[in-house]
Amino acid sequence: MPTIQLLQVTDPHLYADPARRLYGVDTAESLRLVLEAALVDGLRPDAIVVTGDIGDDLSAGAYGRFRRALEGCGVPVYCLPGNHDDPVSMAQLLDRRGFQYCGRARLGGWGLVLLDTHVPGEAHGLIADAELQRLEHDLHALRDVPVVVGLHHPPVPVGSEWLDGVGLLNGDRFLDVLDRNDHVRAVIAGHVHQQFESRRGSVRLLTTPSTCAQFAPGTRTCVMDRRPPGYRRLSLHDDGSFDTQVGWLPALVGEPRDESELRR
Ligand SMILES: [Fe+2]
Repeated sequence: MPTIQLLQVTDPHLYADPARRLYGVDTAESLRLVLEAALVDGLRPDAIVVTGDIGDDLSAGAYGRFRRALEGCGVPVYCLPGNHDDPVSMAQLLDRRGFQYCGRARLGGWGLVLLDTHVPGEAHGLIADAELQRLEHDLHALRDVPVVVGLHHPPVPVGSEWLDGVGLLNGDRFLDVLDRNDHVRAVIAGHVHQQFESRRGSVRLLTTPSTCAQFAPGTRTCVMDRRPPGYRRLSLHDDGSFDTQVGWLPALVGEPRDESELRR
């Protein structure tokens, strides 16, 4: 079985209205530039995983713009919701014709499980009991292959007080499931708009920069970072090991700035 190339993009925060900006950034243009950089010849992915905050305005229009941006890539696109998303709209618009909403998948000799941690009206995340049961069920169904689990909220603190305050409330229950399933190799998340890595036993817990604006690591309150938009590549090898790298655009898109009226 050949190595599977997986591309993770996260937190594009699209709007139905092309004139709207997030932290001063044209998020659709920023996503376009990230995909252009990540899809260069020779490194084309076999699949794309998008770990939430696809839309920022709870509109169907934002998901329509996302579909149009991704459908030309010609590979399956796996999506899950973030705190800024509307899971109902997402499930209607992003679960057909090349797009999958949550659930599980097989990618060559690897498995993928996509979780919903969305809590209506809240910035923090939670894995509902039914979703935890579904995770156990899907991991059992994929017990013969190494697995990547995707979710929006990182299951562990990342060292930024304000972001850790809106993290995954029941991360301990998620980690308990990992402890019982030693075929899970990686957990990939978004939400924190920065690169971070931790471990749980042999499982690598990874977060990935946003395709738009980044938050500075290690801060008590929201501080914008001057790092450019980014993405993550994962090379999933047939022996169950994997390599991963974060890629960055060569320059900022727009001028990211804190905007105190913005909700988190
Ligand atoms: Fe986000």
